[in-house]
Amino acid sequence: MVEYKINDNIEPGELDKFFHGWKSPPSIEIKEKLINGSDLIVTAREDGKLVGFLTAISDGAMHAFISLVEVLETHQGKGIGSHLMRRAIDYFKGYYDIVLITDKDKGAFYKKFGFNEIYGMHIRDFKYRLNPSPLAGEGKACPELVSGGEGE
Ligand SMILES: CC(C)(COP(=O)(O)OP(=O)(O)OC[C@H]1O[C@@H](n2cnc3c(N)ncnc32)[C@H](O)[C@@H]1OP(=O)(O)O)[C@@H](O)C(=O)NCCC(=O)NCCS
Repeated sequence: MVEYKINDNIEPGELDKFFHGWKSPPSIEIKEKLINGSDLIVTAREDGKLVGFLTAISDGAMHAFISLVEVLETHQGKGIGSHLMRRAIDYFKGYYDIVLITDKDKGAFYKKFGFNEIYGMHIRDFKYRLNPSPLAGEGKACPELVSGGEGE
């Protein structure tokens, strides 16, 4: 039987069997960061083994972004992805927007839950890595504000 849990603990190594077919799968360090940095994690476990998971980030009030929905290849087509999606949609009930990015050929899966196509933009970096920016730390001001901005 598959058991679903909200904000279950995941070990980074448990994600090794996922991201099948990704051009640029995340490193173990990035897996650890994304687990710790997500505002919502929904897991699907069969006899304790992780067979699917969903992660999302949110501002806690208006906007939620479903960042990853992954089901092991061996377990696809059994309703697990649908369960994960329904749990996340319930969790963010009342929010202004729940958004996600997907490949066009997977649109049909998300439309089943009421998602509509919208216009969007993004920057993608296939060489993504842990954020080296000094601005990534908490409470750091932007350099242009510190120096007085343009004209100085
Ligand atoms: C996409 C994914 C999450 C779906 O999970 P799943 O557990 O296989 O899906 P379900 O069994 O809940 O399928 C529910 C319905 O969606 C349909 N569906 C599943 N995957 C689909 C896809 N890739 N494209 C279109 N429809 C799909 C199923 O046919 C099923 O239709 P039905 O209700 O008419 O029978 C899963 O296939 C997966 O992990 N794929 C690899 C990773 C991935 O692509 N993640 C999404 C990145 S945006």
